[in-house]
Amino acid sequence: MQRAQIDELTRLANQVYFRAGVFNQTLWMGHKAAKCPMDMWVYQELMVRLRTDLVIETGTWMGGSALYFAHLLDLMGHGRVITVDIHTQPGRPEHDRIDYLEGSSIDDRIVEEIGNRASDSSSVLVILDADHHAEFKLEEMNRYAPMVTPESYLIAEDSCFDHYPAWPEFGPGPAHAVNQFIKSNRDFEIDRRQERHMITFCPRAFLRRKSARSP
Ligand SMILES: C[S@@+](CC[C@H](N)C(=O)[O-])C[C@H]1O[C@@H](n2cnc3c(N)ncnc32)[C@H](O)[C@@H]1O
Repeated sequence: MQRAQIDELTRLANQVYFRAGVFNQTLWMGHKAAKCPMDMWVYQELMVRLRTDLVIETGTWMGGSALYFAHLLDLMGHGRVITVDIHTQPGRPEHDRIDYLEGSSIDDRIVEEIGNRASDSSSVLVILDADHHAEFKLEEMNRYAPMVTPESYLIAEDSCFDHYPAWPEFGPGPAHAVNQFIKSNRDFEIDRRQERHMITFCPRAFLRRKSARSP
């Protein structure tokens, strides 16, 4: 199948997901998780391969995605999830591996606290799933990129909004931010192999931090 055909298939799937509100009816162990299930599988593959010991998530919402990462870490036998949201939703799941923070993900205090935790970890995965407007996303990317360990990933969730676009009215969003970020951050590369399951909310937004040996 050609790239253009794959893109068209993925665009249609995204439009159905968003227009029919399927993203809002996706559950992990009974808790809402606004994620594409295919992306959840990719996160599992990455975390196992990279032996992730810290997942940083911006945008907690109902906590279903944080619980999913915590359960993966349970199976892996190590690691923690730190998740931040500007609003605390009632009924979020409690789990020993999850630390909830309240505040804006770009607030200096929050960035410093999470940065300290990242510097004590050996394999850090960062998932940016808070405010999806381009200016905010780019600011987040610049502030969280240094926390990503070599060969691990910085993921700009919901680049589908303005890539296909699945949500044309949204305006410049994560896809725009990724284009800006990648121009000036040569330590990172767009890894489209992580889109091999075809349906993704993160087209061109799995950003791999190159290993120290890469040019
Ligand atoms: C798309 S939802 C997160 C979905 C969640 N990660 C999941 O997969 O189920 C976006 C969340 O970002 C939060 N948010 C918006 N602006 C934020 C900010 N400046 N800092 C942190 N969180 C923010 C919203 O309150 C909302 O809960």
